[in-house]
Amino acid sequence: MDIKKKIGKLLEPIFAKLGYDKSLSIITFSTMPNIDLQCNSAFLLAKQVGKNPVDIASKIAEEFNKNNKEITASNIGGFVNFVLSNKYLSKVANEIKNDKNLGVEKHTKSRTIIMDYGGANVAKELHVGHLRSPIIGESLKRLYIMLGDKVISDSHLGDWGMQMGLTIAQLEEDGYLDYYFNKGKKIDITLDMLNEEYPKASARKKTDSKFKQKADDYTLYVQQKREPYYTIYNEIRKASVKAIERNYKMLNSYYDLWYGESTAQPYIEKVIQIFKDKGLTRESNGALVVDVAREGEHIPLPKKNPDDPNEEVQYKNPMPPAIIQKYNGGDLYATTDIATLYMRQKNFKFDDCFYLTDKRQALHFEQVFRCVRLAGIINDNQRLVHIGFGTMNGKDGKPFKTRDGGTIKLEDIIKLLISKAKEKLEENKVEYDDKLALAIGVAAMKFGDLSNIVSKDYVFDLDKFLSFEGKTGPYLQYTAVRIKSILKKAKDNLHDINISTQEEKNIIMNIFKVLDCYEICYQDKSLNALCNNLYNLASAFSTFYNNIKILSEQDEKKRISYLTLSKLVLDILSQGLYVLAIDIPERM
Ligand code: ARG
Repeated sequence: MDIKKKIGKLLEPIFAKLGYDKSLSIITFSTMPNIDLQCNSAFLLAKQVGKNPVDIASKIAEEFNKNNKEITASNIGGFVNFVLSNKYLSKVANEIKNDKNLGVEKHTKSRTIIMDYGGANVAKELHVGHLRSPIIGESLKRLYIMLGDKVISDSHLGDWGMQMGLTIAQLEEDGYLDYYFNKGKKIDITLDMLNEEYPKASARKKTDSKFKQKADDYTLYVQQKREPYYTIYNEIRKASVKAIERNYKMLNSYYDLWYGESTAQPYIEKVIQIFKDKGLTRESNGALVVDVAREGEHIPLPKKNPDDPNEEVQYKNPMPPAIIQKYNGGDLYATTDIATLYMRQKNFKFDDCFYLTDKRQALHFEQVFRCVRLAGIINDNQRLVHIGFGTMNGKDGKPFKTRDGGTIKLEDIIKLLISKAKEKLEENKVEYDDKLALAIGVAAMKFGDLSNIVSKDYVFDLDKFLSFEGKTGPYLQYTAVRIKSILKKAKDNLHDINISTQEEKNIIMNIFKVLDCYEICYQDKSLNALCNNLYNLASAFSTFYNNIKILSEQDEKKRISYLTLSKLVLDILSQGLYVLAIDIPERM
Protein backbone atom coordinates (compact mmCIF):
# COMPACT_ATOMS: atom_id res chain seq x y z
CA MET A 1 0.00 0.00 0.00
CA ASP A 2 1.73 3.06 -1.25
CA ILE A 3 -0.11 6.14 -0.01
CA LYS A 4 1.85 8.41 -2.32
CA LYS A 5 0.84 6.37 -5.35
CA LYS A 6 -2.73 6.16 -4.08
CA ILE A 7 -3.10 9.94 -3.93
CA GLY A 8 -1.14 10.29 -7.17
CA LYS A 9 -3.74 8.09 -8.86
CA LEU A 10 -6.45 10.50 -7.70
CA LEU A 11 -4.48 13.34 -9.28
CA GLU A 12 -4.13 11.65 -12.66
CA PRO A 13 -7.63 12.34 -14.04
CA ILE A 14 -7.30 15.93 -12.89
CA PHE A 15 -4.01 16.37 -14.70
CA ALA A 16 -5.58 14.78 -17.76
CA LYS A 17 -8.55 17.10 -17.60
CA LEU A 18 -6.35 20.17 -17.22
CA GLY A 19 -4.11 19.00 -20.03
CA TYR A 20 -1.03 18.50 -17.86
CA ASP A 21 1.62 15.84 -18.21
CA LYS A 22 0.17 12.86 -16.27
CA SER A 23 3.57 11.47 -15.41
CA LEU A 24 4.05 14.50 -13.17
CA SER A 25 1.24 13.57 -10.79
CA ILE A 26 3.88 12.74 -8.23
CA ILE A 27 3.30 12.91 -4.50
CA THR A 28 5.85 13.19 -1.69
CA PHE A 29 5.57 13.18 2.08
CA SER A 30 5.43 16.66 3.51
CA THR A 31 7.86 17.85 6.15
CA MET A 32 5.57 20.77 7.06
CA PRO A 33 3.52 20.54 10.26
CA ASN A 34 -0.19 19.86 9.69
CA ILE A 35 0.36 18.88 6.08
CA ASP A 36 0.50 15.20 5.18
CA LEU A 37 1.50 15.00 1.55
CA GLN A 38 2.34 17.35 -1.25
CA CYS A 39 2.78 17.61 -4.99
CA ASN A 40 5.55 19.92 -6.20
CA SER A 41 4.96 19.52 -9.90
CA ALA A 42 3.36 22.93 -10.52
CA PHE A 43 6.85 24.41 -10.86
CA LEU A 44 7.79 22.00 -13.63
CA LEU A 45 4.38 22.33 -15.28
CA ALA A 46 4.75 26.09 -15.17
CA LYS A 47 7.86 25.82 -17.32
CA GLN A 48 6.18 23.34 -19.66
CA VAL A 49 3.02 25.38 -20.26
CA GLY A 50 4.36 28.88 -19.60
CA LYS A 51 2.06 29.76 -16.73
CA ASN A 52 2.44 30.86 -13.13
CA PRO A 53 2.97 27.89 -10.72
CA VAL A 54 0.63 29.41 -8.15
CA ASP A 55 -2.21 29.50 -10.66
CA ILE A 56 -1.52 25.93 -11.71
CA ALA A 57 -1.38 24.67 -8.12
CA SER A 58 -4.57 26.40 -7.09
CA LYS A 59 -6.40 25.04 -10.16
CA ILE A 60 -5.22 21.51 -9.32
CA ALA A 61 -6.30 21.90 -5.69
CA GLU A 62 -9.68 23.27 -6.69
CA GLU A 63 -10.38 20.40 -9.08
CA PHE A 64 -9.14 17.87 -6.56
CA ASN A 65 -11.46 19.13 -3.84
CA LYS A 66 -14.45 18.90 -6.18
CA ASN A 67 -13.98 15.13 -6.48
CA ASN A 68 -12.50 14.10 -3.15
CA LYS A 69 -14.33 14.77 0.07
CA GLU A 70 -12.05 12.94 2.50
CA ILE A 71 -8.83 14.63 1.49
CA THR A 72 -8.32 18.37 1.38
CA ALA A 73 -5.98 19.94 -1.13
CA SER A 74 -4.74 23.51 -0.96
CA ASN A 75 -2.21 25.66 -2.72
CA ILE A 76 0.52 27.43 -0.83
CA GLY A 77 2.94 29.29 -3.05
CA GLY A 78 2.73 26.78 -5.88
CA PHE A 79 2.83 23.66 -3.73
CA VAL A 80 -0.29 21.53 -3.69
CA ASN A 81 -0.67 20.35 -0.11
CA PHE A 82 -2.88 17.53 1.07
CA VAL A 83 -4.43 16.85 4.44
CA LEU A 84 -5.96 13.42 4.97
CA SER A 85 -9.11 13.26 7.08
CA ASN A 86 -9.42 10.87 10.00
CA LYS A 87 -12.08 9.00 8.09
CA TYR A 88 -9.78 8.46 5.14
CA LEU A 89 -6.85 7.49 7.36
CA SER A 90 -9.00 5.00 9.25
CA LYS A 91 -10.08 3.40 6.00
CA VAL A 92 -6.51 2.98 4.79
CA ALA A 93 -5.32 1.79 8.21
CA ASN A 94 -7.93 -0.96 8.14
CA GLU A 95 -6.92 -1.88 4.61
CA ILE A 96 -3.34 -2.35 5.78
CA LYS A 97 -4.46 -4.28 8.85
CA ASN A 98 -6.55 -6.66 6.72
CA ASP A 99 -3.90 -7.19 4.07
CA LYS A 100 -1.96 -10.43 4.40
CA ASN A 101 1.33 -8.66 3.64
CA LEU A 102 0.43 -5.70 5.88
CA GLY A 103 0.45 -3.32 2.96
CA VAL A 104 3.79 -4.36 1.51
CA GLU A 105 3.42 -4.72 -2.24
CA LYS A 106 5.49 -7.33 -3.99
CA HIS A 107 7.16 -6.42 -7.27
CA THR A 108 5.34 -7.64 -10.35
CA LYS A 109 8.55 -9.08 -11.79
CA SER A 110 10.48 -11.39 -9.51
CA ARG A 111 14.26 -11.46 -9.89
CA THR A 112 16.49 -14.37 -9.00
CA ILE A 113 19.37 -13.16 -6.90
CA ILE A 114 22.45 -14.90 -5.60
CA MET A 115 23.48 -13.24 -2.38
CA ASP A 116 27.09 -13.97 -1.51
CA TYR A 117 27.69 -12.92 2.09
CA GLY A 118 29.32 -14.07 5.27
CA GLY A 119 32.54 -15.10 3.59
CA ALA A 120 34.21 -16.55 6.68
CA ASN A 121 37.61 -18.11 6.14
CA VAL A 122 38.35 -21.68 7.10
CA ALA A 123 41.22 -22.12 9.60
CA LYS A 124 41.25 -18.42 10.35
CA GLU A 125 39.35 -17.14 13.34
CA LEU A 126 36.26 -15.10 12.47
CA HIS A 127 37.03 -11.53 13.33
CA VAL A 128 35.33 -8.20 13.46
CA GLY A 129 35.83 -7.69 9.72
CA HIS A 130 33.41 -10.56 9.20
CA LEU A 131 30.66 -9.01 11.23
CA ARG A 132 29.09 -6.61 8.78
CA SER A 133 28.76 -9.04 5.88
CA PRO A 134 26.46 -11.56 7.62
CA ILE A 135 24.46 -8.74 9.21
CA ILE A 136 23.85 -6.67 6.07
CA GLY A 137 23.57 -9.68 3.78
CA GLU A 138 20.97 -11.40 5.92
CA SER A 139 18.79 -8.30 6.04
CA LEU A 140 19.07 -7.55 2.34
CA LYS A 141 18.13 -11.14 1.63
CA ARG A 142 15.02 -10.86 3.81
CA LEU A 143 14.07 -7.54 2.24
CA TYR A 144 14.41 -8.85 -1.31
CA ILE A 145 12.38 -11.95 -0.54
CA MET A 146 9.69 -9.81 1.08
CA LEU A 147 9.42 -7.76 -2.11
CA GLY A 148 9.00 -10.87 -4.22
CA ASP A 149 12.48 -11.87 -5.36
CA LYS A 150 13.93 -15.33 -5.17
CA VAL A 151 17.17 -15.20 -3.22
CA ILE A 152 19.78 -17.92 -2.98
CA SER A 153 22.16 -17.21 -0.13
CA ASP A 154 25.67 -18.61 -0.24
CA SER A 155 28.19 -18.29 2.58
CA HIS A 156 31.09 -18.62 0.13
CA LEU A 157 33.61 -19.78 2.69
CA GLY A 158 37.22 -18.91 2.11
CA ASP A 159 38.57 -22.44 1.97
CA TRP A 160 40.97 -22.62 -0.95
CA GLY A 161 43.66 -20.11 -0.14
CA MET A 162 47.13 -19.87 1.31
CA GLN A 163 45.88 -20.09 4.92
CA MET A 164 45.48 -23.83 4.40
CA GLY A 165 49.09 -24.46 3.46
CA LEU A 166 50.24 -22.18 6.25
CA THR A 167 48.14 -23.95 8.86
CA ILE A 168 49.14 -27.42 7.69
CA ALA A 169 52.84 -26.51 7.68
CA GLN A 170 52.61 -25.16 11.21
CA LEU A 171 50.54 -28.07 12.54
CA GLU A 172 53.06 -30.44 11.02
CA GLU A 173 56.03 -28.74 12.66
CA ASP A 174 54.31 -28.72 16.01
CA GLY A 175 53.82 -32.48 15.79
CA TYR A 176 50.04 -32.58 15.46
CA LEU A 177 50.06 -34.37 12.11
CA ASP A 178 52.42 -37.28 12.76
CA TYR A 179 49.60 -39.75 12.27
CA TYR A 180 48.97 -38.57 8.73
CA PHE A 181 52.64 -39.05 7.87
CA ASN A 182 52.65 -42.53 9.41
CA LYS A 183 54.67 -41.48 12.41
CA GLY A 184 52.36 -41.59 15.41
CA LYS A 185 48.92 -41.58 17.01
CA LYS A 186 46.01 -39.63 15.65
CA ILE A 187 45.37 -36.28 17.27
CA ASP A 188 42.03 -34.61 16.52
CA ILE A 189 42.32 -31.22 14.93
CA THR A 190 40.43 -28.78 17.14
CA LEU A 191 39.34 -25.23 16.84
CA ASP A 192 41.63 -24.14 19.68
CA MET A 193 44.52 -25.66 17.81
CA LEU A 194 43.66 -23.72 14.66
CA ASN A 195 43.23 -20.51 16.57
CA GLU A 196 46.76 -20.89 17.81
CA GLU A 197 48.48 -22.29 14.74
CA TYR A 198 47.22 -20.06 11.96
CA PRO A 199 48.24 -16.73 13.54
CA LYS A 200 51.63 -18.24 14.35
CA ALA A 201 52.12 -19.34 10.76
CA SER A 202 50.82 -16.10 9.35
CA ALA A 203 53.35 -14.09 11.36
CA ARG A 204 56.15 -16.45 10.45
CA LYS A 205 55.65 -16.32 6.71
CA LYS A 206 56.67 -12.67 6.76
CA THR A 207 60.19 -13.43 8.01
CA ASP A 208 60.84 -17.07 7.22
CA SER A 209 61.06 -17.56 3.45
CA LYS A 210 61.68 -21.29 3.68
CA PHE A 211 58.53 -21.71 5.71
CA LYS A 212 56.60 -19.57 3.27
CA GLN A 213 57.75 -21.72 0.36
CA LYS A 214 56.64 -24.82 2.21
CA ALA A 215 53.22 -23.30 2.88
CA ASP A 216 52.97 -22.36 -0.77
CA ASP A 217 53.76 -25.94 -1.79
CA TYR A 218 51.27 -27.38 0.68
CA THR A 219 48.57 -25.06 -0.58
CA LEU A 220 49.21 -26.33 -4.07
CA TYR A 221 49.12 -29.96 -2.86
CA VAL A 222 45.72 -29.39 -1.30
CA GLN A 223 44.46 -27.77 -4.49
CA GLN A 224 45.76 -30.81 -6.38
CA LYS A 225 43.99 -33.02 -3.81
CA ARG A 226 47.25 -34.74 -2.98
CA GLU A 227 47.32 -36.97 0.12
CA PRO A 228 47.65 -36.70 3.05
CA TYR A 229 47.32 -32.94 2.59
CA TYR A 230 43.82 -33.11 1.23
CA THR A 231 42.58 -35.28 4.10
CA ILE A 232 44.19 -32.96 6.63
CA TYR A 233 42.59 -30.02 4.88
CA ASN A 234 39.17 -31.61 5.15
CA GLU A 235 39.68 -32.17 8.89
CA ILE A 236 40.60 -28.51 9.30
CA ARG A 237 37.60 -27.46 7.28
CA LYS A 238 35.25 -29.57 9.37
CA ALA A 239 36.45 -28.15 12.69
CA SER A 240 36.33 -24.64 11.37
CA VAL A 241 32.94 -24.74 9.68
CA LYS A 242 31.28 -26.01 12.85
CA ALA A 243 32.41 -22.87 14.69
CA ILE A 244 31.45 -20.62 11.81
CA GLU A 245 27.94 -22.07 11.70
CA ARG A 246 27.54 -21.57 15.44
CA ASN A 247 28.62 -17.96 15.26
CA TYR A 248 26.43 -17.11 12.30
CA LYS A 249 23.44 -18.67 13.96
CA MET A 250 23.96 -16.48 17.00
CA LEU A 251 23.87 -13.50 14.66
CA ASN A 252 20.63 -14.76 13.06
CA SER A 253 22.41 -15.29 9.78
CA TYR A 254 21.34 -18.28 7.71
CA TYR A 255 22.41 -19.70 4.36
CA ASP A 256 20.84 -21.87 1.68
CA LEU A 257 24.25 -22.97 0.50
CA TRP A 258 27.30 -23.60 2.58
CA TYR A 259 29.53 -23.59 -0.46
CA GLY A 260 33.06 -22.37 -0.44
CA GLU A 261 35.79 -21.38 -2.84
CA SER A 262 36.63 -25.07 -3.04
CA THR A 263 33.17 -25.93 -4.42
CA ALA A 264 34.16 -24.35 -7.71
CA GLN A 265 37.38 -26.37 -7.93
CA PRO A 266 36.02 -28.88 -10.49
CA TYR A 267 35.46 -26.01 -12.92
CA ILE A 268 38.77 -24.22 -12.58
CA GLU A 269 40.68 -26.04 -15.32
CA LYS A 270 37.85 -25.62 -17.76
CA VAL A 271 37.50 -21.94 -16.99
CA ILE A 272 41.22 -21.24 -17.40
CA GLN A 273 41.00 -22.99 -20.74
CA ILE A 274 38.18 -20.68 -21.85
CA PHE A 275 40.39 -17.67 -21.15
CA LYS A 276 43.28 -19.25 -23.01
CA ASP A 277 41.16 -20.26 -25.99
CA LYS A 278 39.82 -16.77 -26.31
CA GLY A 279 43.34 -15.37 -26.29
CA LEU A 280 42.68 -13.39 -23.16
CA THR A 281 45.68 -14.55 -21.13
CA ARG A 282 49.36 -13.78 -21.12
CA GLU A 283 52.23 -14.91 -18.93
CA SER A 284 53.81 -12.57 -16.45
CA ASN A 285 56.64 -13.81 -14.21
CA GLY A 286 55.31 -17.33 -14.59
CA ALA A 287 51.79 -16.37 -13.60
CA LEU A 288 48.80 -16.26 -15.91
CA VAL A 289 47.18 -12.84 -16.16
CA VAL A 290 44.23 -11.23 -17.94
CA ASP A 291 44.48 -7.59 -18.99
CA VAL A 292 41.28 -6.02 -17.81
CA ALA A 293 42.15 -2.34 -18.15
CA ARG A 294 40.20 -0.48 -20.77
CA GLU A 295 41.87 1.99 -23.03
CA GLY A 296 42.75 5.29 -21.41
CA GLU A 297 41.56 4.12 -18.05
CA HIS A 298 42.60 5.83 -14.88
CA ILE A 299 41.68 4.87 -11.36
CA PRO A 300 41.45 7.83 -9.02
CA LEU A 301 43.16 7.21 -5.68
CA PRO A 302 41.54 8.39 -2.45
CA LYS A 303 42.66 11.87 -1.43
CA LYS A 304 45.05 12.16 1.49
CA ASN A 305 42.87 14.88 2.92
CA PRO A 306 39.31 14.49 1.61
CA ASP A 307 38.31 17.97 2.83
CA ASP A 308 41.02 19.77 0.90
CA PRO A 309 39.55 21.02 -2.39
CA ASN A 310 42.99 22.03 -3.69
CA GLU A 311 44.62 18.63 -3.34
CA GLU A 312 45.10 17.19 -6.79
CA VAL A 313 43.58 13.79 -7.40
CA GLN A 314 46.23 11.14 -8.07
CA TYR A 315 45.58 8.27 -10.44
CA LYS A 316 46.69 4.71 -10.52
CA ASN A 317 47.15 3.84 -14.14
CA PRO A 318 46.22 1.55 -15.61
CA MET A 319 43.97 -0.92 -13.84
CA PRO A 320 46.27 -3.82 -12.94
CA PRO A 321 45.83 -7.12 -14.77
CA ALA A 322 43.94 -9.86 -12.95
CA ILE A 323 46.09 -12.81 -11.96
CA ILE A 324 44.12 -15.98 -12.54
CA GLN A 325 46.82 -18.56 -11.94
CA LYS A 326 49.87 -18.49 -9.69
CA TYR A 327 53.47 -19.03 -10.81
CA ASN A 328 53.26 -22.65 -9.57
CA GLY A 329 49.90 -23.36 -11.18
CA GLY A 330 48.01 -22.75 -7.93
CA ASP A 331 44.64 -21.01 -7.64
CA LEU A 332 44.04 -17.53 -6.29
CA TYR A 333 41.12 -15.58 -4.88
CA ALA A 334 40.22 -14.31 -8.37
CA THR A 335 40.47 -17.85 -9.82
CA THR A 336 37.90 -19.27 -7.44
CA ASP A 337 35.59 -16.29 -7.82
CA ILE A 338 35.63 -16.60 -11.61
CA ALA A 339 35.07 -20.36 -11.45
CA THR A 340 32.29 -19.83 -8.90
CA LEU A 341 30.49 -17.51 -11.31
CA TYR A 342 30.87 -20.14 -14.02
CA MET A 343 29.35 -22.71 -11.65
CA ARG A 344 26.54 -20.36 -10.59
CA GLN A 345 25.74 -19.70 -14.21
CA LYS A 346 25.46 -23.44 -14.84
CA ASN A 347 23.36 -24.16 -11.74
CA PHE A 348 21.04 -21.18 -11.49
CA LYS A 349 19.44 -18.83 -13.94
CA PHE A 350 20.17 -15.71 -11.94
CA ASP A 351 19.45 -12.08 -12.72
CA ASP A 352 21.75 -10.56 -10.13
CA CYS A 353 24.70 -11.69 -8.11
CA PHE A 354 25.44 -9.55 -5.08
CA TYR A 355 28.65 -9.71 -3.07
CA LEU A 356 28.93 -8.26 0.39
CA THR A 357 32.41 -7.49 1.55
CA ASP A 358 34.45 -4.63 2.91
CA LYS A 359 34.67 -1.91 0.27
CA ARG A 360 38.43 -2.34 0.15
CA GLN A 361 37.81 -5.39 -2.02
CA ALA A 362 36.31 -3.22 -4.77
CA LEU A 363 39.26 -3.67 -7.12
CA HIS A 364 39.19 -7.44 -6.78
CA PHE A 365 35.53 -7.60 -7.75
CA GLU A 366 35.90 -5.14 -10.58
CA GLN A 367 38.66 -7.36 -12.00
CA VAL A 368 36.61 -10.52 -11.57
CA PHE A 369 33.53 -8.95 -13.17
CA ARG A 370 35.55 -7.72 -16.12
CA CYS A 371 37.16 -11.12 -16.56
CA VAL A 372 33.88 -13.03 -16.72
CA ARG A 373 32.39 -10.52 -19.13
CA LEU A 374 35.44 -10.66 -21.39
CA ALA A 375 35.23 -14.44 -21.41
CA GLY A 376 31.48 -14.40 -22.08
CA ILE A 377 30.75 -16.45 -18.95
CA ILE A 378 28.06 -14.00 -17.84
CA ASN A 379 25.44 -12.43 -20.11
CA ASP A 380 25.13 -8.69 -20.57
CA ASN A 381 21.72 -8.55 -18.92
CA GLN A 382 22.91 -10.19 -15.72
CA ARG A 383 24.03 -7.82 -13.00
CA LEU A 384 27.09 -8.40 -10.88
CA VAL A 385 27.22 -6.02 -7.95
CA HIS A 386 29.78 -5.59 -5.25
CA ILE A 387 28.12 -4.03 -2.22
CA GLY A 388 31.15 -2.67 -0.42
CA PHE A 389 30.65 -1.66 3.18
CA GLY A 390 32.65 0.65 5.37
CA THR A 391 34.72 -0.37 8.37
CA MET A 392 33.54 -0.68 11.92
CA ASN A 393 35.73 1.71 13.87
CA GLY A 394 36.58 2.15 17.51
CA LYS A 395 35.85 5.41 19.32
CA ASP A 396 39.26 6.66 18.12
CA GLY A 397 37.95 6.51 14.53
CA LYS A 398 40.34 3.72 13.57
CA PRO A 399 39.29 0.14 12.70
CA PHE A 400 38.06 -1.61 15.82
CA LYS A 401 40.94 -3.43 17.53
CA THR A 402 41.75 -5.09 20.83
CA ARG A 403 43.48 -3.00 23.44
CA ASP A 404 46.88 -4.24 22.33
CA GLY A 405 46.10 -3.56 18.67
CA GLY A 406 45.18 -7.10 17.61
CA THR A 407 42.07 -7.97 15.62
CA ILE A 408 39.06 -8.82 17.72
CA LYS A 409 37.61 -12.27 17.42
CA LEU A 410 33.94 -12.49 16.53
CA GLU A 411 33.42 -14.90 19.37
CA ASP A 412 34.73 -12.27 21.79
CA ILE A 413 32.43 -9.64 20.36
CA ILE A 414 29.46 -11.90 20.90
CA LYS A 415 30.61 -12.49 24.48
CA LEU A 416 30.96 -8.75 24.93
CA LEU A 417 27.45 -8.16 23.57
CA ILE A 418 26.00 -10.68 26.01
CA SER A 419 27.82 -9.32 29.05
CA LYS A 420 27.00 -5.69 28.25
CA ALA A 421 23.35 -6.60 27.67
CA LYS A 422 23.31 -8.34 31.05
CA GLU A 423 24.66 -5.22 32.74
CA LYS A 424 21.91 -3.22 31.12
CA LEU A 425 19.20 -5.68 32.12
CA GLU A 426 20.47 -5.67 35.70
CA GLU A 427 20.41 -1.89 35.71
CA ASN A 428 16.79 -2.01 34.57
CA LYS A 429 15.99 -4.76 37.08
CA VAL A 430 14.76 -7.17 34.43
CA GLU A 431 14.99 -10.88 35.07
CA TYR A 432 17.13 -12.42 32.36
CA ASP A 433 18.77 -15.50 31.00
CA ASP A 434 21.50 -15.91 28.36
CA LYS A 435 18.99 -16.12 25.55
CA LEU A 436 17.45 -12.77 26.42
CA ALA A 437 20.86 -11.13 26.85
CA LEU A 438 21.98 -12.45 23.48
CA ALA A 439 18.80 -11.25 21.74
CA ILE A 440 19.26 -7.75 23.14
CA GLY A 441 23.00 -7.61 22.54
CA VAL A 442 22.63 -8.76 18.95
CA ALA A 443 19.76 -6.32 18.37
CA ALA A 444 21.92 -3.49 19.69
CA MET A 445 24.80 -4.30 17.41
CA LYS A 446 22.69 -5.02 14.32
CA PHE A 447 20.67 -1.87 14.60
CA GLY A 448 23.82 0.14 15.36
CA ASP A 449 25.28 -1.23 12.16
CA LEU A 450 22.27 -1.22 9.85
CA SER A 451 21.18 2.30 10.75
CA ASN A 452 24.22 3.59 8.86
CA ILE A 453 24.49 3.91 5.10
CA VAL A 454 26.17 0.66 4.08
CA SER A 455 29.20 2.21 2.40
CA LYS A 456 30.04 4.48 5.36
CA ASP A 457 32.42 3.69 8.19
CA TYR A 458 30.84 3.89 11.62
CA VAL A 459 31.86 3.93 15.24
CA PHE A 460 31.13 0.79 17.21
CA ASP A 461 29.83 2.25 20.45
CA LEU A 462 28.14 -0.57 22.27
CA ASP A 463 27.10 1.53 25.26
CA LYS A 464 25.19 3.86 22.97
CA PHE A 465 23.78 1.00 20.89
CA LEU A 466 22.49 -0.73 24.02
CA SER A 467 20.47 2.15 25.40
CA PHE A 468 16.80 1.31 25.92
CA GLU A 469 15.95 4.84 24.81
CA GLY A 470 16.71 6.64 21.59
CA LYS A 471 17.41 5.26 18.16
CA THR A 472 18.56 1.77 19.10
CA GLY A 473 17.67 -1.86 18.55
CA PRO A 474 16.72 -2.45 22.20
CA TYR A 475 14.35 0.55 22.11
CA LEU A 476 12.48 -1.03 19.22
CA GLN A 477 12.41 -4.37 20.98
CA TYR A 478 11.18 -2.63 24.10
CA THR A 479 8.36 -0.91 22.21
CA ALA A 480 7.23 -4.23 20.74
CA VAL A 481 7.38 -5.95 24.13
CA ARG A 482 5.39 -3.13 25.69
CA ILE A 483 2.64 -3.41 23.06
CA LYS A 484 2.52 -7.15 23.58
CA SER A 485 2.00 -6.64 27.28
CA ILE A 486 -0.79 -4.09 26.71
CA LEU A 487 -2.54 -6.52 24.39
CA LYS A 488 -2.16 -9.30 26.92
CA LYS A 489 -3.90 -7.21 29.56
CA ALA A 490 -6.74 -6.17 27.25
CA LYS A 491 -10.06 -7.99 27.50
CA ASP A 492 -11.58 -6.71 24.26
CA ASN A 493 -11.66 -8.40 20.89
CA LEU A 494 -9.81 -6.36 18.31
CA HIS A 495 -11.91 -4.92 15.54
CA ASP A 496 -11.56 -1.77 13.43
CA ILE A 497 -9.39 1.30 13.66
CA ASN A 498 -11.27 4.59 14.02
CA ILE A 499 -8.85 7.44 14.21
CA SER A 500 -9.88 10.38 16.34
CA THR A 501 -6.71 11.88 17.79
CA GLN A 502 -3.57 13.55 16.46
CA GLU A 503 -1.48 10.86 18.17
CA GLU A 504 -3.18 8.12 16.18
CA LYS A 505 -2.88 10.08 12.99
CA ASN A 506 0.81 10.48 13.65
CA ILE A 507 1.13 6.72 14.00
CA ILE A 508 -0.60 6.03 10.70
CA MET A 509 1.52 8.57 8.87
CA ASN A 510 4.61 6.83 10.24
CA ILE A 511 3.28 3.46 9.16
CA PHE A 512 2.94 4.87 5.64
CA LYS A 513 6.56 5.92 5.79
CA VAL A 514 7.73 2.50 6.94
CA LEU A 515 5.88 0.88 4.05
CA ASP A 516 7.30 3.46 1.68
CA CYS A 517 10.90 2.96 2.73
CA TYR A 518 11.15 -0.72 1.81
CA GLU A 519 11.43 0.29 -1.82
CA ILE A 520 14.05 2.91 -0.96
CA CYS A 521 16.09 0.29 0.89
CA TYR A 522 15.69 -2.09 -2.03
CA GLN A 523 17.05 0.48 -4.47
CA ASP A 524 19.82 1.68 -2.14
CA LYS A 525 20.81 -1.81 -0.98
CA SER A 526 21.05 -0.30 2.47
CA LEU A 527 18.71 -0.60 5.45
CA ASN A 528 19.31 2.74 7.12
CA ALA A 529 15.97 4.14 5.93
CA LEU A 530 14.11 1.21 7.46
CA CYS A 531 15.94 1.70 10.78
CA ASN A 532 15.03 5.39 10.82
CA ASN A 533 11.40 4.86 9.96
CA LEU A 534 10.89 2.03 12.42
CA TYR A 535 12.37 4.24 15.08
CA ASN A 536 10.01 7.09 14.13
CA LEU A 537 7.07 4.74 14.31
CA ALA A 538 8.15 3.49 17.74
CA SER A 539 8.48 7.09 18.93
CA ALA A 540 5.04 7.93 17.59
CA PHE A 541 3.70 4.98 19.53
CA SER A 542 5.43 6.17 22.72
CA THR A 543 3.79 9.57 22.40
CA PHE A 544 0.43 7.90 21.86
CA TYR A 545 1.04 5.65 24.87
CA ASN A 546 2.05 8.56 27.09
CA ASN A 547 -0.80 10.86 26.12
CA ILE A 548 -3.65 8.43 25.80
CA LYS A 549 -5.06 5.99 28.30
CA ILE A 550 -5.45 2.92 26.19
CA LEU A 551 -6.73 0.27 28.56
CA SER A 552 -8.74 2.56 30.83
CA GLU A 553 -10.58 4.40 28.05
CA GLN A 554 -14.29 4.23 28.92
CA ASP A 555 -15.65 4.56 25.39
CA GLU A 556 -15.58 0.99 24.17
CA LYS A 557 -15.35 1.83 20.49
CA LYS A 558 -12.39 4.10 21.11
CA ARG A 559 -10.69 1.59 23.39
CA ILE A 560 -11.01 -1.15 20.79
CA SER A 561 -9.68 1.17 18.13
CA TYR A 562 -6.67 2.09 20.31
CA LEU A 563 -5.93 -1.57 20.90
CA THR A 564 -6.37 -2.51 17.27
CA LEU A 565 -4.05 0.28 16.25
CA SER A 566 -1.51 -0.87 18.85
CA LYS A 567 -1.66 -4.35 17.37
CA LEU A 568 -1.08 -2.91 13.91
CA VAL A 569 1.98 -1.04 15.19
CA LEU A 570 3.26 -4.27 16.71
CA ASP A 571 2.75 -6.10 13.42
CA ILE A 572 4.47 -3.42 11.36
CA LEU A 573 7.36 -3.28 13.82
CA SER A 574 7.62 -7.07 13.84
CA GLN A 575 7.70 -7.16 10.06
CA GLY A 576 10.47 -4.54 9.99
CA LEU A 577 12.46 -6.21 12.75
CA TYR A 578 12.17 -9.49 10.90
CA VAL A 579 13.86 -7.85 7.93
CA LEU A 580 16.58 -6.52 10.21
CA ALA A 581 16.86 -10.08 11.61
CA ILE A 582 16.28 -8.76 15.12
CA ASP A 583 14.29 -10.98 17.48
CA ILE A 584 11.57 -9.63 19.73
CA PRO A 585 12.03 -11.07 23.21
CA GLU A 586 9.18 -12.20 25.46
CA ARG A 587 9.97 -9.61 28.13
CA MET A 588 12.37 -6.76 28.71
N1 ARG B 1 36.53 -14.83 2.28
C1 ARG B 1 36.53 -13.46 1.85
C2 ARG B 1 37.16 -12.56 2.91
O1 ARG B 1 37.39 -12.97 4.02
C3 ARG B 1 35.16 -12.96 1.53
C4 ARG B 1 34.43 -13.70 0.45
C5 ARG B 1 33.48 -12.84 -0.29
N2 ARG B 1 32.86 -13.49 -1.41
C6 ARG B 1 33.46 -13.73 -2.59
N3 ARG B 1 32.79 -14.39 -3.50
N4 ARG B 1 34.69 -13.32 -2.84
O2 ARG B 1 37.44 -11.44 2.64
